[in-house]
Amino acid sequence: MKHERSIALLNQAAADELQAVHQYMYFHVHLDDDGLTHLADLFKRTAITEMGHLEALAERILFLEGDIEMRAAGAIEKITDPAAMLTKAKEMEDLAASDYNRAALECAAAADAQSKQIFEKLIADEEGHFSEFDRQLDNIQRFGPSYLALQSFKTAAAG
Ligand SMILES: [Fe+2]
Ligand SMILES: [Fe+2]
Repeated sequence: MKHERSIALLNQAAADELQAVHQYMYFHVHLDDDGLTHLADLFKRTAITEMGHLEALAERILFLEGDIEMRAAGAIEKITDPAAMLTKAKEMEDLAASDYNRAALECAAAADAQSKQIFEKLIADEEGHFSEFDRQLDNIQRFGPSYLALQSFKTAAAG
């Protein structure tokens, strides 16, 4: 197979995306159940973006005549404390961005510019996710845990 290494990198990324979808939806349902709607919505929106990433990676794998494994990289962590969720999510985004940076370089070295571009687009999104999670965690640390509840009241009033 011509782009064997790219296909392996794309499949590894797809597995990480699938794990992120599972982890963020786990966070979403718990936060929603606790009435922390605003943060719950952020995790759901992010999970949907990660699913879009999975799709882009899978389409590229099929184009290169490989097959998508469609297996999550690992099991979710059962974290229910909002600050711990955000810490975990920041770690995941940070790791994804560095993995994709390495993958982009490898694809470029293998003369696969299109896969490189896909990884670069994902890096921009993951860095955006990182800063959103960072801002939320920073606000919890500055204003205390009641920040999340107040933020959700505000969202409900505005809606
Ligand atoms: Fe992603
Ligand atoms: Fe992300």
